[in-house]
Amino acid sequence: MDFNENNATEAVLNSFSKIKDERLKKIMSSIIRNLHQVVKEVEPTEEEWIKAIMFLTKTGQKCDDRRQEFILLSDVLGVSMLLDSINNRKSKNETETTVLGPFHTTSPMIENGTNIANFVKGENCVVSGIITDNNNIPIPGASLEVWQSGPDGLYDVQKEDRVVDLRATLLSLDDGSYLFRTVKPQYYPIPVDGPVGDLLKNLDRHPYRPAHIHFMVKAKGFKDLITHVFIDGDKYLESDTVFAVKQSLIRKLEKNIDENKQEYFKLNFDIIMEKN
Ligand SMILES: [Fe+2]
Repeated sequence: MDFNENNATEAVLNSFSKIKDERLKKIMSSIIRNLHQVVKEVEPTEEEWIKAIMFLTKTGQKCDDRRQEFILLSDVLGVSMLLDSINNRKSKNETETTVLGPFHTTSPMIENGTNIANFVKGENCVVSGIITDNNNIPIPGASLEVWQSGPDGLYDVQKEDRVVDLRATLLSLDDGSYLFRTVKPQYYPIPVDGPVGDLLKNLDRHPYRPAHIHFMVKAKGFKDLITHVFIDGDKYLESDTVFAVKQSLIRKLEKNIDENKQEYFKLNFDIIMEKN
């Protein structure tokens, strides 16, 4: 029988009968069933289909070693957060997870107390907390990778000179505590100079993310934790363009005065790790 719109899905599914890898078979079958369903429901014209293919082509072409347009696409469509929710169901009081985002990269090891704002200027901020398990037992020697944008809304990897700034790795101390100095993070737009930016414009959506600092925490015997701390009061908390805000991750910035009478913000973020 000829391949036609009534038997198309079955014909392609049948072609998968020899796949030995059961997981691959499940994934491919689901993709085909759903993709065919979209085409049947929308009935795209051939021009529209080429437009879709060109969009994905441009998304790939925009990627290089410091730009990941496909992660952005997954983020703005809520796929990254859906995946995160499915893979990180929390049973107890552990710190909730959120998206990795496109700006993670390796960072230099620092001592506790170091200022990670090497070049960027801004309002001083001290970030600290204690890392514990879900019985409140401190975890010493946990590795914390932290990264954030500055008041200009940019991450170091987005700048021409690529000088490492506002990112570091540190270890929790014997009592499970950690502390680093930085500048106050600011809300920022995700990069809009690529196909994902065009998409947001076409969808009448803004590109902003509320102010946050990224954390990736690893400790032996515990699940790796990828999360953010968000700043209370930010105007984009309710409409994060990548859907990544969780109420349990929002913290207040407290104004303080240091010994030199300089004003700084204090941000406390305790982290509860989940056992493996
Ligand atoms: Fe970010």
